[in-house]
Amino acid sequence: MGKIGILTGGGDCPGLNSVIRAVERTSSLEKWEVLGFRYGWKGVMENEFMVVDGKTVSGILPKGGTILGTSRTNPYKDPNGLEKVKKTFEKNQLTALVAVGGEDTLGVASKLFKDGLPVVGVPKTIDNDLSATDYTFGFDTAINIVTECIDRLHTTAESHNRVIVVEIMGRHAGWIALESGIAGGADVILIPEVPIEIKEVCDLIKKRHARGKTFSIVAVAEGAKMAGKDITLEEKKDQFGHVRLGGIGQTLAELIEKNTGFETRVTVLGHIQRGGTPSAFDRVLGTRFGVKAVELVKKKQFGQMVSLAGTKIISVPLDQATGELKLVPKEYYDMAKIFFG
Ligand code: F6P
Repeated sequence: MGKIGILTGGGDCPGLNSVIRAVERTSSLEKWEVLGFRYGWKGVMENEFMVVDGKTVSGILPKGGTILGTSRTNPYKDPNGLEKVKKTFEKNQLTALVAVGGEDTLGVASKLFKDGLPVVGVPKTIDNDLSATDYTFGFDTAINIVTECIDRLHTTAESHNRVIVVEIMGRHAGWIALESGIAGGADVILIPEVPIEIKEVCDLIKKRHARGKTFSIVAVAEGAKMAGKDITLEEKKDQFGHVRLGGIGQTLAELIEKNTGFETRVTVLGHIQRGGTPSAFDRVLGTRFGVKAVELVKKKQFGQMVSLAGTKIISVPLDQATGELKLVPKEYYDMAKIFFG
């Protein structure tokens, strides 16, 4: 009888529980036991886990978040981190560990594999910025929530003749702002990949209002850069070197009001984008990823990440997935620009 470990690391997202459930169900067919490590890599380093069985996963499919908890712990920041992780593997006689996470969590998984541990990765993030997979789960739910928010902001912006700037998650990549902005009909979309030209933004809004429109919606990703710089809430960095972004919406709203004379408000969507029940798409993708992850373990194909390629679930080397982020291509942003103003 084998034992599979599973952990969820980094920012949570809708669909994580569907992966945990699928890993448990598929492992039970092999009579393998599943150990769910608590709070990402922290639980692996401290050997803190819960046994995940049929009872544990019953009813979790529609639940957001992760029943295992999560954290942004980086074992490679601890001088004894690798030893602690290895000890947990030995102590529990783990056949393999399934790491569910984004660039940081999977970056650690990739290093651990190179350090000799049997690890398999599952890509998650609402940001959808992981290379080597067409989509990560969590993204679909996020864009549906944000689209609904943009729809709601339209009606109040119109009633008050206001510009509303909506600040959307997306640290390095603007996928959420771009696709929810397109779906919600935002009048300007600003993303980290393209530096903000404030004059251009204000001109677009002025032209639109000169055409008789009385309101505008500006969708901005939190990682969009003003004069080449990130707008941050604090300078402190997490264990993976990331600062807390936030504030671009407010900065932008003030500049728009000053330069256009139109009353402007800002809405920061924050963690609403990440919480709550997953969409059907994310539940299905998480389920397919979880099943494939256990198949990889069965075949001893370690150092791989499950991935969506078109409509197929395949696997790719972990380092291919974590080497470079998937950013919004210029031609896609240019297409979105057709609808600006
Ligand atoms: O990576 C997902 C994400 O939601 C980013 O879009 C955002 O920058 C970050 O996590 C915020 O995470 P937290 O508030 O948990 O630090």
